[in-house]
Formats: sequence, structure tokens, C-alpha cells
Amino acid sequence: MKLNRFAIYIIVGAVFIAIGVFVGLTARLFPVAASAEAAAVDSLFNFMLAIAVVVFLIVEGGIIYSIIRFRRRPGDETDGAPIHGNTALEITWTAIPAVIVFILSIYSYQVYVTIRNPEPKDNEVRVGVIGQQFAWKFTYEMPEDDDPEVTPELRERIKQYMIDSTLYVPLNRPVRAIIESQDVIHSFYIPEFRIKQDATPGRVSEAYFTPIEKGEWWVICAELCGVGHAAMSQINRVVVLEQSEFDQYIATLYAKAKETASDPRSPEVGRQLVINKYACGACHILDDAGLVGNIGPSLNGIATRAEGHAERGEGLVGGTDAAAYIRGSIVNPNLYLVPGYAAGIMPQNYGNPNVMSEDDLEAIVNYLLTIR
Ligand code: CUA
Repeated sequence: MKLNRFAIYIIVGAVFIAIGVFVGLTARLFPVAASAEAAAVDSLFNFMLAIAVVVFLIVEGGIIYSIIRFRRRPGDETDGAPIHGNTALEITWTAIPAVIVFILSIYSYQVYVTIRNPEPKDNEVRVGVIGQQFAWKFTYEMPEDDDPEVTPELRERIKQYMIDSTLYVPLNRPVRAIIESQDVIHSFYIPEFRIKQDATPGRVSEAYFTPIEKGEWWVICAELCGVGHAAMSQINRVVVLEQSEFDQYIATLYAKAKETASDPRSPEVGRQLVINKYACGACHILDDAGLVGNIGPSLNGIATRAEGHAERGEGLVGGTDAAAYIRGSIVNPNLYLVPGYAAGIMPQNYGNPNVMSEDDLEAIVNYLLTIR
């Protein structure tokens, strides 16, 4: 009889472990694994899942077994047995989880270290990732340029425009993302690459990944960062390109940046800035630039309305004309609030030239003055 029960424990335990191993090996709970690092994360997760399944079956199985086996029979009015403590059992159910947690902590720490501190590689690509309310923007390194007209000073100016609202990365090359925030804490998250890293104001952090699948996915913000947080996960895409396509993209971006640097306050530059650099589309509608946000007031016909505000002297900064109203709305948005919209939602830091340069501000004002 005693041996019999022991055999049952062994059989049930073996079945539970087999189910756990099966679930761990076959579960596909995550989206496509598009980076080289994803495999290690998935293995770790599935290993934990397998253990969790076994524990779940033991605990829930024990409960269901006890409910049936020890239920009250009809006519049984006696008390339950006076059981108090079981030292062997308590040592067992403390020791086994302790061993499991110990193994998991070593395993997960190893995965963490491999992903967080990869060997520096010669062929790595560096991209800048900047979080702002409520979009991401991405900066790229400039290619070589032997044009003698490009002075170091001009090169500094061109660098400002090596920026885009889409993250382009080359296939099969390690990418080092240098992550910053312009205002509050955001979290740079690409589920398909299995990377998530906070963007913290006042400090620079990094994330690493090697794309191994061609494709296009969302760049998500995984930190509640304000009223537009949810929208921030549906603004920016990451696109994995072949190396040649990536080189072509960088060359085109550089050519455009060079053109912009020669006439940095033109309306066309302003148009590019509202689309690619300042993420105005996270909150505003503007048909001319394809912006579809719905958190702030629409910018359609803004030039016409700005004239009315200028006549009434509302929200003007640096002048008395329509340009002054638009400038005021950007650098000091609480000065005049469009009825129905609350103070403090529009970013408050565009008056800081380190956040929005004089050139960029004037270009955007000049562009919005053309929106009638
Ligand atoms: Cu940025 Cu949430």
C-alpha cells in the first residue's frame, strides 16, 4: 500500500513535469523574434514558464485532489483532525523554491549581462533615441563628406538635421541605441527585439540589439509619461533595411540635412521639422503635413486665426503680428489657451534653445504662417 502511493507520486510528478517541459518547449507567447538577442530572452522566459506550469499543476492539483478526497461525507458531524505543523513539509516547500529561485537568478543574470554589456564591435551602428511628450525621434551619424565647402562649423549645423521620426537600422549589424529624454521618463520598447530601456531626463542610457529579420514594427513607450502616453506607441516605426538600403537612406538624409543647413529658416524646413523632429503630429491635426493627432487643437488654418489673435493681442511673444502669436503658442503655450484645451499639456520647454533652436523655431513659425 505504501509503495503503491509512492509509485503514484512518481507517476503524477513525471506527468506534471512532462506537461511543463512540453509547454516550455512549444509556447509561442511573444511576437516574432527579430533580433539576435531575442532567443536568449525567449529561452529564459520559457524556462520560467515550464517551472511555473509544474508548480501550478502541483498546487492546483493538490487543491482539487483534497477537495474531493477529504470532502465532508453525509452524516459526518466530527471535527477535522487536529493537525499542527509539519516540519519536514515546511522545510521541503521552502528549500525547493529557494533552489529554483537561485537557479533562475543565475540564469537570468547571465542573460541580462550578455544583452546589456555586449563586446564592443567594430561594425556597430550608433543611433540616437530621444523621447519627448509624445513621440520618439531618432538621430543618425553623418557619413564622410570630402566636399571642401563643408567647414567643421557647417558640419555641426548639418548634424542637427540628421534626425527622423522613423528608426532605420541595417540587417545583421549590431545597433547601439543612445537613449535620452527631453522632458519626463519614457521607456524605449521594441517587443520584437525584446529590448526595453528607460529614457530618463538628465542621463544617457544605452540599449543594444542586432536585427536579424527584415520588417517594420512599432516603437513603443512603456512608461506612463502624460496624457499622450498611449498615442506615443502608435507614432514611430522601426524599419530593418538591407545594408545597401540603409546606406542609401543615410545618404539621402544627409543630402537633405545639408540643404536644410544652407537655408535653415525656410517654410519647407519648418514643414519637415514639425513632421520629423518635433513630433507635432502626436497631438495636432495638420492636413498639409499629414499630422493626425487629437490631443491638442487643430493647426489647419492656423495662419488665419493667428491674425485674429494678433489683433486682439492674445498670447503674443516677440512682436505684435501673426508670427508673434504662433511663436508665443510654441515657447509659452500657457499664455493663451485655445478654449477647451488645458494648460500644461503642450510641452513647456520649447522656449529653451537647447530643446528648440532659434532656427528651428523661426522655420516652424514661417511654415505655419503659410497654413491658411
Ligand atoms: Cu512616453 Cu509614455
